Amino acid sequence: MVRIFPNLETLSHAAAETFITIANESTEQRGQFFVALNGGGTPKRLFELLASAPDKMDWSRTHVFWGDERMVPADDPENCYGMAKRILLDHVAIPADHIHRVRTDLAPAEAVADYIRTLERFASPPLAWPQFDLILLGMGDDGHTASLFPGSSVDGSDPAISVTADYQGRPANRVTLTPLVFNSARDVIFMATGASKAEALKRVLNGDSEVQFPAARIHPTDGNITWFVDEVAAQKLYHQSEEQKL
Ligand code: 6PG
Repeated sequence: MVRIFPNLETLSHAAAETFITIANESTEQRGQFFVALNGGGTPKRLFELLASAPDKMDWSRTHVFWGDERMVPADDPENCYGMAKRILLDHVAIPADHIHRVRTDLAPAEAVADYIRTLERFASPPLAWPQFDLILLGMGDDGHTASLFPGSSVDGSDPAISVTADYQGRPANRVTLTPLVFNSARDVIFMATGASKAEALKRVLNGDSEVQFPAARIHPTDGNITWFVDEVAAQKLYHQSEEQKL
């Protein structure tokens, strides 16, 4: 499903409402809520809104992971965990041992091994990782998601890998979950805004090359996927339908 909003503000309010609804359904049905957050700029407003309404869900029964992480110190402004901690996690009653960050103080290979062990601790057999109740993802102008970048291998049997990437001057060394994990989730929410995302969004929703547009690799086996986009990011979807009408 694609939900189109006038702007990031209205999109973020709707995403916060959905996040809280899924969290409450998960804790009511299974006694806990497992979520993987993303980094980048788009989710910051969502995190602020969640932090401003801490009593709307049960953070004491929430476990937070990350879909990807940049291998920089936790207090580096570019660190995904550090960003979520500053904006959200320091403002809600989540137990410290429910926060499962990638150990960026380790070398990439060790950080991957450590993260895979953490995933295994919370595995939903037969999976060797948790079946996430919700995964938040963004999409780059190039169609990447998490740290799955164009041209990267589509196949793979590991739930987490280390990669290097050159994107908008952001940190190059990263650890990322893989589609194995993303596609076993109950709900995936993509958020994408801005005209620079319009072409990639059209190509991904068209089901174009998963090699060239890794966000197209995300299609949960038994779960839901909802795109939260603003009107400018959706502009090529509009034009396409106008062409179809002509
Ligand atoms: C990251 C994110 C990454 C992000 C996209 C979009 O670690 O950077 O996980 O996949 O979602 O690059 O970033 P923006 O929201 O800043 O456009």
